[in-house]
Amino acid sequence: MLIAIATETAKGEGRVAVTPDTVKRLISYGADVIIESGAGLASGITDDDYKAPGAQIAKGQAAALKNADIILKVRRPDSSEIGAMKSGAIVIATMDPYGQTAALNEMAKAGLSAFAMELMPRITRAQSMDILSSQANLAGYRAVIDGAAEFGRALPMMMTAAGTVPAARIFVMGAGVAGLQAIATARRLGAVVTATDVRPAAKEQVESLGAKFIAVEDDEFKQAETSGGYAKEMSDGYKAKQAELVAAHIAKQDIVITTALIPGRPAPTLVTKAMVKSMKPGSVIVDLAVERGGNCEMSKAGGVSDAKGVKIVGYLNVPGRLAASASALYARNLQAFVETMIDKQTKALAVNWDDELIKATLLTKDGKIVHPNFQDSKGAA
Ligand code: NAI
Repeated sequence: MLIAIATETAKGEGRVAVTPDTVKRLISYGADVIIESGAGLASGITDDDYKAPGAQIAKGQAAALKNADIILKVRRPDSSEIGAMKSGAIVIATMDPYGQTAALNEMAKAGLSAFAMELMPRITRAQSMDILSSQANLAGYRAVIDGAAEFGRALPMMMTAAGTVPAARIFVMGAGVAGLQAIATARRLGAVVTATDVRPAAKEQVESLGAKFIAVEDDEFKQAETSGGYAKEMSDGYKAKQAELVAAHIAKQDIVITTALIPGRPAPTLVTKAMVKSMKPGSVIVDLAVERGGNCEMSKAGGVSDAKGVKIVGYLNVPGRLAASASALYARNLQAFVETMIDKQTKALAVNWDDELIKATLLTKDGKIVHPNFQDSKGAA
């Protein structure tokens, strides 16, 4: 059983799907591991670091991928990578499958069994495989660091002989995994933190981190959580009440960090142009939802923009801005999933195609798109 890793080809992607630690574990399951030379460099991992636990190093993408039974990746493979993989190989990545019918068909036609890690069920057994949580945690932390870096003032209160610097006010919108980590980070840096969410369960979590919870807590709010723990799309009436409450609050904030998402839908608009205008010059908005359309109407994906003195931070791939830490956690998520595919006794590949984790994440197999959510997409094979 050969597991392969090639250098990520997406622009600016510094993460890598294995670390020396996970290589060691994969080898202990009975696998051989082959890694394209240089694949770990952007995460601070050298070829020698990978060789130490027993990985082989290949020169170039094709040499790494051609005989592999399992390919581990950060992003969905591109055409050149797909072309280098053998039919029947398993490829595991963050597949970003929504609206990507052509790409899914390409993997299906190549005979690949493609798994999307972001579709992993959020059940106890799969917690160690939850890439959404591992990467969102880092993104939440980094959002505060990026916001602080753009802010022309200090975050903590400082009392000096030359006068007192007041603590910064930070407002976190969306208190899921990323938002809660942003709250904890902002508190550690000494800011005065408030937060909002539409799920009632978030209130206690926000307060337990020492932040103040701000939300329209009506009957709709009390039922806003799905059985899976996610937010529902709120009614127009609720959104109007929420906007009114938020508008008054935002005008007094120094840094606003938005992380609000609804599964399978564009990100909700929470910060309007008028709200941006109401903020003091020098304030900062960090929009972590920018890849899904953004929570702020004025966000521009891919960098920092200026709206009359208010800086709007819209970096893409925020976990990738902490590539070494993000790789370490992501690689552990993948290794935990691969472990379920290997027979410990025979040390051979033994995928249980009826396992709920396999069924939930498998996109393509035997030449077809097999995942029920993507089969009837327009233009599918
Ligand atoms: P997410 O990334 O889908 O959304 C982020 C946050 O935005 C959520 O808290 C959501 O309620 C909030 N939001 C959506 N619309 C909003 C609006 N209009 N205004 C304000 N906030 C809005 O969510 P994430 O971070 O993936 O977590 C969702 C839930 O799943 C949380 O309760 C989390 O604790 C839970 N979870 C459970 C896990 C497990 O059981 N294994 C693992 C990870 C998360």
